[in-house]
Amino acid sequence: MSSGDPKQNPTPEELANMSQDELAKLGANLDDVDVIYRRNRWPIKGSKAEKRAERQIAFWFALAGLSGLAFVAIFVFWPWEYRTVGEEGYALYSLTTPLYGLTFGLSILSIGIAVVLIAKKMIPEEIAVQQRHDGPSEEVDQRTTVALLRDAYDTSTIGRRGMIKWSAAFGIGAFAVAAPVGLVGGMVKNPWADRDDSALWRSLWTPDYPGETIYLRRDTGRITDVALIRPEDIDAGGMETVFPFKESWRGDHDALLKSFRHEYSAVMLIHLRAEDANRAVRREGQETFNYGNFFAYSKICTHLACPTSLYEQQTQRILCPCHQSQFDVMQYAKPVFGPATRALPQLPITVNEEGYMVANGDFIEPLGPAFWERPGYRNLES
Ligand code: FES
Repeated sequence: MSSGDPKQNPTPEELANMSQDELAKLGANLDDVDVIYRRNRWPIKGSKAEKRAERQIAFWFALAGLSGLAFVAIFVFWPWEYRTVGEEGYALYSLTTPLYGLTFGLSILSIGIAVVLIAKKMIPEEIAVQQRHDGPSEEVDQRTTVALLRDAYDTSTIGRRGMIKWSAAFGIGAFAVAAPVGLVGGMVKNPWADRDDSALWRSLWTPDYPGETIYLRRDTGRITDVALIRPEDIDAGGMETVFPFKESWRGDHDALLKSFRHEYSAVMLIHLRAEDANRAVRREGQETFNYGNFFAYSKICTHLACPTSLYEQQTQRILCPCHQSQFDVMQYAKPVFGPATRALPQLPITVNEEGYMVANGDFIEPLGPAFWERPGYRNLES
């Protein structure tokens, strides 16, 4: 060093000849840092307490690694496809999201605990006071900062502890693999591979073959109790939630259960009073979707897919309780308040020769909330 003044910068030659320890002390002095107290955690090597601390840190890194690998394995192999309550495989499916959270969370939590343990049990205990200055760092500051960090690494004794180093590499490495898997894994499978049969297009209101009759069915509380609806069953001004029914499901408990539980099944059948129905604005291209004074709209909110459960007869509005979107039945259920931006899809309906209310075709737009590549409409005949 060029002088005894600790604040004076050394020359490049002096810097090059200084040891790491001298650079670390110089860095502290140049930064106006006074180390008031410093104690190595393990002045005697190889004590039982030291080994125990080492094992604790290694344990948490190892747990982070195992959790990270478990996350990747669950993401790839665990059954994730939607199952309704009571359907075969529902128990495993219902655990999918909790297991993602559990393994990913445990991995990052374990890394955090291991790092805290390193700070508490390995890095020397120190009390230092520093005066802070404005302005950019000079080269001497950069060099001495690196030296200080190296000094912290050396004096923490991590460098000679293979168990901690290897477990840290395993734990942090597995987490580094798990994090991008969670981010990009959902984009690997092409949701449009099935074209018109892709899950986002279809619901149980989609006919299995051209011309299939799909009835409107009410929920009586008994799965196998098939109660079909006639227009006279709903008074003017009334509303009922209805579900699809196909003859091929009769007697099939699982199919009947699914028709109630499928996320896109529920439809609101609204019987407007005659004076209201006369004033109701039909949506362009959907002028024939209603049957007389009956209008059927998907019950699944176009914001985030909550059931839009509340129908207010006086204002003719449908309210979604989740974020208070309101849809105006007098204007083809278009949103008039709240975060939803698209009208509730309308189901074309009619009455068949037996007098039952049936779907007069599938929905012509996707149900539920937005997704990428969502088009405007599909042609009813396509
Ligand atoms: S889900 Fe309906 S308003 Fe948000």
